[in-house]
Amino acid sequence: MKDTELNIAYEIEGEGQPLLFLHGFLENKEIWKDIIPNFLVDGFRCITIDLPCHGMSRFHNDKCSMKFMATQVHELLNKLNIKEKITVIGHSMGGYVGLELNLLRSAKIVLLHSNFWADSASKREDRDRVIEIVKHGKTKFIQEAIPNLFSQSNKTKCDEIIKAIISSSCQIPTNEIQAATAGMRDRRGFYDLSRHELCMIHGSEDPIISTKILHAELKKLKYKIELVTLPEVGHMSIWEDEAALIKAIKSLIIQ
Ligand code: MLT
Repeated sequence: MKDTELNIAYEIEGEGQPLLFLHGFLENKEIWKDIIPNFLVDGFRCITIDLPCHGMSRFHNDKCSMKFMATQVHELLNKLNIKEKITVIGHSMGGYVGLELNLLRSAKIVLLHSNFWADSASKREDRDRVIEIVKHGKTKFIQEAIPNLFSQSNKTKCDEIIKAIISSSCQIPTNEIQAATAGMRDRRGFYDLSRHELCMIHGSEDPIISTKILHAELKKLKYKIELVTLPEVGHMSIWEDEAALIKAIKSLIIQ
């Protein structure tokens, strides 16, 4: 389905407590399709969204902030008459959007291979480089970036899905990859988490989020966050270890 006014594509399945799935950078709502049935059986209403600049949701400006993405999601949920507290599973960039969304409405956020701090100076420079590189080398950038999200040991078994993600990512217009990259570069950190009901799922071999940095950042917080670490998993547990991921999400969201 598509809300043409908001320019946001989405799907809803099931009845009951709303469970919102937000994909990561270069992904789209299809990434969740194999795990959704596991939550429908538990009585969740599962909502998947193509965030702006991704899938079928187009964006026409230079920078797509995480706040803008969250506002679009919030407005879509309002239009769908979803007013109650929601649970959000936010994969990586989707987690950044989830943190912003919780400033707009009551939510429990599961940061899946995601984080709550802002980019370091060197990470911001990397983002600027990406914005330059994709101008003339979008396909090459995607072909290098996607395999690097998987742990070294899972790359062979995930070969088919890596090819499929590369192929769908290449459909994203170059200016929208740049706009989402600028949005991530300029996102804020969330150290005051008092408004947030937050938990995290981390891959022990995540090439993007180092376990050492994660634990150092967690120490800076005034609030305790429930953290599940998945062994032998990188940034993409959805394919690297689907069963472990489903078990981890359920342990965090079902009381
Ligand atoms: C993602 O998977 O969404 C990205 O790796 C997030 C990021 O680059 O910060």
